[in-house]
Amino acid sequence: MKYEQINSELFKKNRKKFMAEMKPKSIAIFNSNDIYPISADSTMPFQQHRDILYLSGVDQEESILLLFPDAIDKKSREILFVRETNDHIAVWEGAKLDKNQATAVSGIESVYWLTDFDKIFFGLMTEAECIYFNTNEHYRQSVETQTREDRFILKCKNDFPAHRVAKSNPILQQIRGVKEIEEIKLIQYACDITEKGFRRVLKFIKPGIWEYELEAEYLHEFIRNRSKGFAYTPIIASGNNANVLHYIENNNQCKDGDLILMDVGAEYANYSSDMTRTIPVNGKFTKRQRQVYEAVLRVKNDATNMLVPGTLWADYHIEVGKLMTSELIGLGLLDKADVQNEDKDWPAYKKYFMHGTSHHMGLDTHDYGELKTPMKPNMVFTVEPGIYIPDEKMGIRLEDDVVITEEGTPFNLMRNIPIEVEEIEDLMNT
Ligand code: GLY
Ligand code: MN
Ligand code: MN
Repeated sequence: MKYEQINSELFKKNRKKFMAEMKPKSIAIFNSNDIYPISADSTMPFQQHRDILYLSGVDQEESILLLFPDAIDKKSREILFVRETNDHIAVWEGAKLDKNQATAVSGIESVYWLTDFDKIFFGLMTEAECIYFNTNEHYRQSVETQTREDRFILKCKNDFPAHRVAKSNPILQQIRGVKEIEEIKLIQYACDITEKGFRRVLKFIKPGIWEYELEAEYLHEFIRNRSKGFAYTPIIASGNNANVLHYIENNNQCKDGDLILMDVGAEYANYSSDMTRTIPVNGKFTKRQRQVYEAVLRVKNDATNMLVPGTLWADYHIEVGKLMTSELIGLGLLDKADVQNEDKDWPAYKKYFMHGTSHHMGLDTHDYGELKTPMKPNMVFTVEPGIYIPDEKMGIRLEDDVVITEEGTPFNLMRNIPIEVEEIEDLMNT
C-alpha cells in the first residue's frame, strides 16, 4: 500500500454504526473482491471491495469479515478471516497481513486464517436466526460478473436454507453516505493530489500536445504523492471529444483554439476525488468560450449553495435545471418558445446539459448514499454542471466536490483548484 495506514478507530466506529442497525440474533458477512483474471497468468490490479474496507480497513484479497453482535461468546462478535501467509508467499508476492497486523489494521481481536471459516461460521450459524447478505443495490449498478460475495450468498442459501435473510446494503447506503471527519480528511487529501496534477498540467498544455501526454502527467503527479492512480478512468477530451460524455480514448491531438475538458481525479487510500476543469489549449479563452464557461461556473456556484441540510436531491435537480435554462436563454441557445413548449419529462435545457448535477462521492466515485431523504451534514457531493454544444465544437463541464455542513455554508474540498478564467489564463501564460 502506498498510503499511510488509517487509524483503526475509524473502522471500529463504522462497525458499531452497522451493528446498531442489525436485527437481533443476526450475522452479517462481507467478502473481499476477487483478483480478476485477464488471460494466461495475468490479472487486473487488486481493488478491494469498498464495504469490507469501510468496515475493517483490510485491503487484501481472500478476506472475510463476520459481524454477530449477539454472539454468546464476546470474542465471536467481530471476526476477521484472512489468507494464511507463509514464507513462500512472502518471497513471491510480499508478505500478507499476519494475525497481529490484521488486528492492528482493523481493531478486531479475533483473527483466523480463511481455512478456518467454514467450521467457525457453521458453529455461529447454529446460534443465529438471520443472515445479512451484501447485495449490490447501487442505483447505477450493472454488473455481469459473479463476485466472491455472490458465490458466498449462493452457497450460504444452499447450506443454511432455514435461516431468515436480510439486506446489508440499505444500512451501508445510509451510513457510508454520511462521512466521518477522518474520511473527509482523506477525501481532502485525494482532492489535494488532484490539484497538484492539474497545476502540473496547466504548465504543460500547448497546441499540438496529445491528450494521452496529459493523462501521463496526471498519473506521474498522482503516484509520486502516494496515490495508486486515477480514482476512475480519466476523460481528457479536446475539441468536440468533450461532447462525448464518456470519452476515454484520450488519443487525439489538442488543437490551437480548442478547449480541453479534463474529468480527472486521484484516489488516495481508496477514497476518490472527482474533478472536471475545461481550459483553452492555447491558454486564452475566446469571447464565446468565456461566455459559455462563465455561464457554467455561475450554475456551479449557485447549485453549490443549494447543498444544505434538508435539500432533497430531486428538488435540487429541478432548481438547477431552472438556473441552466435561464443561462441557455442568455447564451442564445434556447428561446422562450423552446421553454414554453418543452416536454416536462425532458426539459429543453437537457439538449445542452443531459446528465445529473451531483452524486455522492467517497470510497466509490459514485458513492453510496441516500438520495430520497433530505441531505445531511457531512454528506459529500459533486457539483458538475456542463453545457455541450457540438455545433460550436465545444463542451464545458466544471466539477468540484463539496461537503454539506451543519451551519449551512457548503465546504468546497476543491476550493484551491483554479477555476476562475483570469487565474487559469495567468497560470497558463507565466
Ligand atoms: N467522473 C465521473 C463523474 O463525474 O461522475
Ligand atoms: Mn467527474
Ligand atoms: Mn462526478
